[in-house]
Amino acid sequence: MTTLAIIGGTGLTQLSNLTILKREQLSTPYGAPSAEFVTGELNNTQVIFLARHGNPHSIAPHNINYRANIWGLKQLGVEQIIAVAAVGGISGDMAPAHIAIPDQIIDYSYGRKHTYFDEAALTHIDFTYPYSQKLRSRLISAAADAGIKITPLGTYGCTQGPRLETAAEIRRMEHDGCDLVGMTGMPEAALAKELAIEYAAISVIANWAAGKSEGEITMAEIERHLDKGMANVAELLRAFVGL
Ligand code: HPA
Repeated sequence: MTTLAIIGGTGLTQLSNLTILKREQLSTPYGAPSAEFVTGELNNTQVIFLARHGNPHSIAPHNINYRANIWGLKQLGVEQIIAVAAVGGISGDMAPAHIAIPDQIIDYSYGRKHTYFDEAALTHIDFTYPYSQKLRSRLISAAADAGIKITPLGTYGCTQGPRLETAAEIRRMEHDGCDLVGMTGMPEAALAKELAIEYAAISVIANWAAGKSEGEITMAEIERHLDKGMANVAELLRAFVGL
């Protein structure tokens, strides 16, 4: 049986429909992971859940110990990760509360501990296709089965945060080809690839990115859309593990 993990982001600190079997606090050579690893059953399938920002939600995107999180999952035998994260929508169909399964990444983050290979022998992972095509296809099928409308493609731009972007930064990102903007997609995806863990993402659109709607972005707006989007994520995950 393949061991599957779900990493939850803002709006998904706990998986409410998970029947909890075990909680484990792990230490790693890279320091402490964000939270305990929760093993449980979702739709009769065993999964391991990790809250990326800690439980309760308290670790900012640039302070997350991505290396410890992915290393901990590897230690637990995880072979597949579904990463859930809130994003801003840049391109036309990426409206608030909608879900996308991105297929590409542009990394604008900086100063993060982003590799396991800085002391070992020089290794350059291939990152042409940053997300597992197999997991993406399964997510897309699960969405169709569950009757959840998603966008099955998209380029995810990862910014440093924790502030949101300026309107000009979003215009630049749009020129670059970004459809979505978030703060936690990298180095998480690359670290999973370095450890040969299959990885795909569910992006939940919390707001129109800066300058894409009238006025400023409020936390209240983000929370409202995330509540709606996360209800669909829970359904999507249930359908995904059932496939
Ligand atoms: N920008 C970056 N990250 C985000 C956003 C955004 O607009 N919304 C949710 N996460």
